[in-house]
Amino acid sequence: MRSFFRGTLFATLLPAAAMAAPGIRNSAHDLSSSSAATVHNSVDNQICKYCHTPHQAQSTQLLWNHTATANNVANWGNDLDGNALTATTAGTPLPTTVRGGSKRCLGCHDGSVAIGDVSNAGGGQKGVIAGLENINGYTDANGKLIDAAKVIGVGGNMGGNHPVSIPYAGQTGYNNSDSKATADDNIGNYFKATNAGCTSATGWCTDSPASDGRNGAAINLIPNAAGGQTNFGIECSSCHEPHNKYGFANFARVDNTVASGLCRSCHNK
Ligand code: HEC
Ligand code: HEC
Ligand code: HEC
Ligand code: HEC
Repeated sequence: MRSFFRGTLFATLLPAAAMAAPGIRNSAHDLSSSSAATVHNSVDNQICKYCHTPHQAQSTQLLWNHTATANNVANWGNDLDGNALTATTAGTPLPTTVRGGSKRCLGCHDGSVAIGDVSNAGGGQKGVIAGLENINGYTDANGKLIDAAKVIGVGGNMGGNHPVSIPYAGQTGYNNSDSKATADDNIGNYFKATNAGCTSATGWCTDSPASDGRNGAAINLIPNAAGGQTNFGIECSSCHEPHNKYGFANFARVDNTVASGLCRSCHNK
C-alpha cells in the first residue's frame, strides 16, 4: 500500500512530460493544443495528423501525411583527417540518399519542411497546418524546427550521426549497401536479427537477451520490402519509437540511460 500511495503522489504532482509515462499523449510528439510539450499547436487539438491521415496521404504505407525532407542527398561529413567519409569503419558504404524510414523523421528534424506541412491538412486539402509558427527558439516564421538541440541532418549533412539507411550487420542488399560487419554471438560483434518475440510493430528485432539493460526484442530492424523476411537495415525508428511506446528518454526503444542498453541490444560489446 505504501508504494501504491507514493506512486499516486508522484503521478499527481509531476507534470506528464517529466514522468515519461509511455504513450504519445503529452510527449514531444504530441503537437496538439492540449499538449504539455513545449512545441505544440496554439489552436488545433489533433495529434496524429502531422504524421498520418486516413485519406489523401502521401502513401498508404503508414498512411504517411507529412511532406518528406527536401534534402534528397545525404553526406556524412569528414573523418578527423579532413577526408570525406564514404564508408563505415567496417567498410559498409554510407548511403548518398536516405530511405523512406528516415526521410519521414528528417522531414521535420532537418528543418527543411514546416512541421505542419502535410498532404491532407484537413478536408483533403494539401497545405500547412497553422499554429506552430514563431515558437521562440523552437520554430521559425514558417513553422520549421530550428531548435539546435533537436535538429538532425541540416542541409543533408548527416556527418556526426550514427549511420542510417545501411544494412544491419550480416545483412546484404539493403539500399544497395552491403554490410561488411558480421552478426554473430561473439563479443565484439552484433546480435543476430530474429523475428522471435519482437515487441516492435513493424520490423524484426535482435536476439540480445533482456538482461543488464539490454532488450533485443524492442529493437526494430527495418525490412527492405515491407513485411519482408530478409535484408534488414537501420533507420531512425530502429532505435526510436515515435509514439513513446516505451516511455524512455528520447523515445528510445531500450532505456539507454541503463548501462547503454540501447547500444548493447545490437552491438554485442
Ligand atoms: C511525429 C510523427 C508521428 C505521430 C504524431 C504519430 N505517428 Fe504513428 N508512426 C510514425 C512513424 C514514423 C511510424 C513508423 C514507425 C516504424 O517504423 O516502426 C508510425 C507507425 C504507426 C503505426 C503502424 C505501426 C505501429 O506502430 O503500430 C500506427 C498504427 C500508427 N503509427 C498510429 C498512430 C496514431 C493513431 C497516432 C496518433 C495518436 C500516431 N501514430 C501519431 C510517426 C508518427
Ligand atoms: C511532424 C513533425 C515530426 C516528425 C515527422 C518527427 N518528429 Fe520528432 N519531434 C518533432 C518536434 C516538434 C519535436 C520537439 C522539438 C523541440 O522540442 O524542439 C520532436 C522531438 C523529438 C525527439 C526528442 C524527444 C524528447 O523527449 O525531447 C526525438 C528523439 C524525436 N523527435 C525523434 C523522431 C524520430 C525518430 C522521428 C521519425 C520516426 C521523428 N522524430 C519524426 C517533430 C517531428
Ligand atoms: C543507433 C541508434 C539511433 C539511431 C539510428 C538514431 N538515433 Fe536519435 N538518438 C539516439 C539516442 C541514444 C539519443 C539520445 C542521445 C542523447 O542523449 O543526446 C538520440 C537522440 C535523438 C534526438 C534528441 C536530440 C539529440 O540530438 O540528442 C533526436 C531529435 C533524434 N535522436 C532524432 C533521430 C533521427 C531523426 C534519426 C534518423 C535520422 C535518429 N535519431 C537515428 C539513438 C539513435
Ligand atoms: C539497431 C541496431 C543498432 C543500435 C541500437 C546501435 N547500433 Fe551502432 N551500428 C549498427 C550498425 C548496423 C552499424 C554499421 C555496421 C557496418 O559498418 O556495417 C553500426 C555502427 C556503429 C559504429 C561504427 C561507426 C563507423 O564509422 O563504422 C559505432 C561506433 C556505433 N555503431 C556505436 C553505437 C552506439 C554508441 C549506439 C548506442 C547509442 C549504437 N551504435 C546503437 C547498429 C546499431
